[in-house]
Amino acid sequence: MSRKIVAGNWKMNKSIAETHALVQELNEMARAWPSDVKVIISPPMLYLTQVAVNVEDNLHVAAQNCHAEKSGAYTGEVSAAQLKSSEINFCILGHSERRQYFGETDASVNAKVKSCLAEGVTPIVCIGELLEERETGKEFTIVEAQLRGGLKGLSSAEIEKCIVAYEPVWAIGTGKTASSDQAQEIHAFIRTKLAELSSQEAADKISILYGGSCKPANSKEIFSKPDVDGGLIGGASLNASDFNALINSY
Ligand code: 13P
Repeated sequence: MSRKIVAGNWKMNKSIAETHALVQELNEMARAWPSDVKVIISPPMLYLTQVAVNVEDNLHVAAQNCHAEKSGAYTGEVSAAQLKSSEINFCILGHSERRQYFGETDASVNAKVKSCLAEGVTPIVCIGELLEERETGKEFTIVEAQLRGGLKGLSSAEIEKCIVAYEPVWAIGTGKTASSDQAQEIHAFIRTKLAELSSQEAADKISILYGGSCKPANSKEIFSKPDVDGGLIGGASLNASDFNALINSY
């Protein structure tokens, strides 16, 4: 099985009409995508079910968050079980924006990861250090703590079902990308830690995506690194031709 994935995180962007238009454009491009690259888009929660019934077979749909409980009195929330029942099979968890603005912690990410796995939804677990953490040489410590916290208590078989996204916070939406060597260094470290938490065999199967100002101009170089298995793309995923170029940059 190929580890290659290009995932688009649309964040809180686009109206329903704009969403349909972008999905239509992507559907038309989907036939030409390499068969060994899994392509995922993550529109706002409100549009997920409409998008899921309108995408080509090789275009997958992810939520940007979910609640850890299966059901109950949690006004405004959506559970992993509800995602699964709407045929949404992927869920981004622990994005730095959720950590920064919505109080997401490693413990809450961990509870959500468990709930996704219990429902058969693949979690895309986001980790990454802040600028001041990198400037003070703490990036490896932070990334390891987030990884261990997010995957705490999971069996090796469960860890193998996760996708990990390394997104240095200083590179998100800033136009500042990690160099391909910086990305490779952290990705290799993450794979070593995944092997410690599960097994080398499991770690070798897990996709580790890079996120942070990834665009057609730099994706070829970043994706060429052995432990970079693709990207979690923000801004450039909102434009069909940019996203298409990213997918075809493999
Ligand atoms: P940008 O590609 O816009 O930097 O965003 C990255 C991101 O946060 C993807 O989840």
